[in-house]
Amino acid sequence: MLTHEDNELLCRVGPGTPMGELMRQYWIPCLPSSEFPEPDGPAKRMMLLGESFVMFRDSEGKMGAVAEACPHRGASMYFGRVEECGIRCQYHGWKFDREGTIVDLPTERNGSKAKQHFMDTVRIRAYACHEVNHMIWVYMGPRPTPPPFPTFEINTLPPENVACPAVMMEQANYMQNMEGDLDSVHLNWLHRRLAADSSAPPIGTRGFWSPDPDAPELDVERTEYGCYYSSQRAWGDNRTWHRINQFIFPFHTMISVGGIINLRSFVPLDDHHTMLISHSGNPAGPMPADMAFRDSGPFDVVGGYIERTNDPRSYFMTVANKTNDYWRDLEVERTLMHSGIPFVLNLQDRAMTELMCDDEGRPLYDRSQEHLGSTDAMIIAVRAQLLNAAKRLRDTGVLPPNVDDISFDRVRAASVLIDSDADWKAHSKQARFADSGELPSDDVPLIID
Ligand code: FES
Ligand SMILES: [Fe+2]
Repeated sequence: MLTHEDNELLCRVGPGTPMGELMRQYWIPCLPSSEFPEPDGPAKRMMLLGESFVMFRDSEGKMGAVAEACPHRGASMYFGRVEECGIRCQYHGWKFDREGTIVDLPTERNGSKAKQHFMDTVRIRAYACHEVNHMIWVYMGPRPTPPPFPTFEINTLPPENVACPAVMMEQANYMQNMEGDLDSVHLNWLHRRLAADSSAPPIGTRGFWSPDPDAPELDVERTEYGCYYSSQRAWGDNRTWHRINQFIFPFHTMISVGGIINLRSFVPLDDHHTMLISHSGNPAGPMPADMAFRDSGPFDVVGGYIERTNDPRSYFMTVANKTNDYWRDLEVERTLMHSGIPFVLNLQDRAMTELMCDDEGRPLYDRSQEHLGSTDAMIIAVRAQLLNAAKRLRDTGVLPPNVDDISFDRVRAASVLIDSDADWKAHSKQARFADSGELPSDDVPLIID
């Protein structure tokens, strides 16, 4: 459990909060490239860490992200005309380039002092953007020159080896959503099939099955970039299966799902809305067509997304959601799966974490009410690491080293099967390293036949 104060510190991410300030030090994955299919297309609203802004692709194909309010008299740049390498306010025509520099100011007469003064002094707040492998990242932090761009494997593979990101909006605080990714024991329950030979349900993946009837044993290693852990399940013949997953500051995970690598980012729009951006890649070659999401959506099998409004908190909201029990099928629940909610990406997980609420019914769970045990060891460590990092930045100005040292990004999740008395950390050293020259380890597939 956490004190109320630490819970607030862990979960609140708006401007001026310790956790929000920590997150702002990092490049943040923001929207898929497909949201801006052509240069000079219409601008879109976006929100991260409680701040609203407007994004556009300029005439050179480069992304811009600027504050919503025009510095002249506050009209929304959402309606701005995106044209000739900039965005022009519809109200009186002030125009800015993607870096926020004012490039036209037609409300003052040419050659006037007022015009020169405004041109010399006015800017619109702009965030740096970087686009790679079908994803647009932004930097919202305090430095004039952003820190180095992350070298996660997903950012360094050839584009054809990387899927379009699968994005799902969660109407809940980022932390409770992310904790679900670092909680291996729920595989034995939420995602399981009812019997070893249960077939796949009509919609979604066949359930998980563990040959070990006992709860997994967790072993956590804290690191300078976050932490990683093994969930250990007995495999017979004196062998143990180690499923090794990563937590990386400030809100990323990597989970072992086979030969495909991933980066999963729990990106807060505000304290009650989180995008899970699940971005996958294939180090062995082009991404298989059925996993690349080039022409299809990741949630098509459960009805896709609902129609969005111009509020970013309505983006990527799936048709299967809390208003319709996430398409729970009670017949599937009776005959095949522990949960009748379709096992499609993180839909089942979302059903568990989206409804965790405080006393007033808001989806920001009060962790002073919990009863944590041995299988919660990883989330205990993740919370401690995040709280320590946010407090250290607040109190001493010191950042976690992975803001500037991007060699920390070269980690992987792993699945290794080894002798039960072997040292799993030593044995998996290469498997946890993206530059090992080896393909991702997949000794035990997640869905065991
Ligand atoms: S409010 Fe934007 S140009 Fe006047
Ligand atoms: Fe899960």
